[in-house]
Amino acid sequence: MQPLLTKIGDRMSQLTGVRLIMKDIKETLKDSKGQYINLSTGNPVILPEVEQLWRKYTQELLDSADYGKVVCRYGDSQGYEPLIEAIVTDFNRRYKLNLTHRHILITPGSQSLYFYAANAFGGYTSGEKLKQIVLPLSPEYTGYGGLTLQPDALVAYKPALEIDEASHRFKYRPDFSQLKIDENTGCVMFSRPCNPTGNVLADDEVRKIATLAEPDNVPVIIDSAYGPPFPSLNFTAMTPLFGGNIIHCMSLSKAGLPGERIGIAIGDPQLIAALECFQTNMCIHSPRYGQAIAARAIASGELAEVAEAVIRPYYQHKFVVVESTLDRAMPASLPWFLHRGEGAIFAWLWLQDLPTDDWKLYEELKKVGVIVVPGSTFFPGLRAEWPHKHQCIRISLTATDEEIATGMQRLAKVVEGVY
Ligand SMILES: Cc1ncc(COP(=O)(O)O)c(C=O)c1O
Repeated sequence: MQPLLTKIGDRMSQLTGVRLIMKDIKETLKDSKGQYINLSTGNPVILPEVEQLWRKYTQELLDSADYGKVVCRYGDSQGYEPLIEAIVTDFNRRYKLNLTHRHILITPGSQSLYFYAANAFGGYTSGEKLKQIVLPLSPEYTGYGGLTLQPDALVAYKPALEIDEASHRFKYRPDFSQLKIDENTGCVMFSRPCNPTGNVLADDEVRKIATLAEPDNVPVIIDSAYGPPFPSLNFTAMTPLFGGNIIHCMSLSKAGLPGERIGIAIGDPQLIAALECFQTNMCIHSPRYGQAIAARAIASGELAEVAEAVIRPYYQHKFVVVESTLDRAMPASLPWFLHRGEGAIFAWLWLQDLPTDDWKLYEELKKVGVIVVPGSTFFPGLRAEWPHKHQCIRISLTATDEEIATGMQRLAKVVEGVY
């Protein structure tokens, strides 16, 4: 039966951005018998030490008197109390904050948190004024593309490019000469470290954005899915920022728990209360089993330790493999530029003046057994035509060293042929 969908139903039943291409990749891999090197995935690698940590705390929970209370009862919308307590204690100690329980909200994955925020702060006000969701630096996380029930609310800004021609590296910076945050802005949102580029906005850039948003009481949502203290997938120094209009958001997905769906928001109690109500209406609360094991892993300090000692070095090393192989294999005469690897689990390659586009390049790479993600899927909200959008690819750091090295060598050959 073909359902008669509402405008919202129609919008929400479509796949956006990278989800669309993931369907094609799934089809490609289905009957492939392992002939592809898959450099497209965003699923974290199962690292033995990390799996062991979650196994240990699961066992502890199973053996404890709390088990029944955790899984056999409903809980508070805000989150499982011992998890909130563990976060308050850890963050107050670690970052010298004065958080109380009212500053915290636990959500089923951080994606849902961005959905609440995009629709609580962005879209039409009761006075029929359109409040924008501003992404200050494009390219950005493709998952922001499907968040808003009011698609014209999403607005992204083109970045400034800092290019190092000699070393074939580049970095995106927010273009403050263009960026507009004012009374028409409902909220600002960005990932730091960034998926897909691995960029980390500098502390002073973040402060500047927060300051721009302050006069109009605009919440600034900082997506720290890859940030410290867990999963600590920053390869460069960065300070997590809190307070005022900032909502600091985290995810335990890249700390080994994507299946359990745990997101964490830390912010002003009034902002948190609005998001909490959204959550109550939508799903009552986050599942409690994952929250209960997370509470133990955070309270003991072990999660932050494993993040620094195991998770970060694992992906940082993978980036070195990408970087060193490309340096050796890519022709120096071609205008290729790798984004500075400052964090996350991806490398981002820009091929300036590419004679084809990113989708055709994706198809060419498939022919030599390498799957990457075409970059144009990572510009949600950027309406301006910009050739750069079609000149980039995202390379996942989740494959083995050998696969990455071979993949990059094949990529270099294909790119040389295309130019
Ligand atoms: C930047 C960023 N934010 C948010 C998410 C969503 O994460 P989750 O809903 O698993 O917490 C992802 C997932 O890959 C991401 O890369």
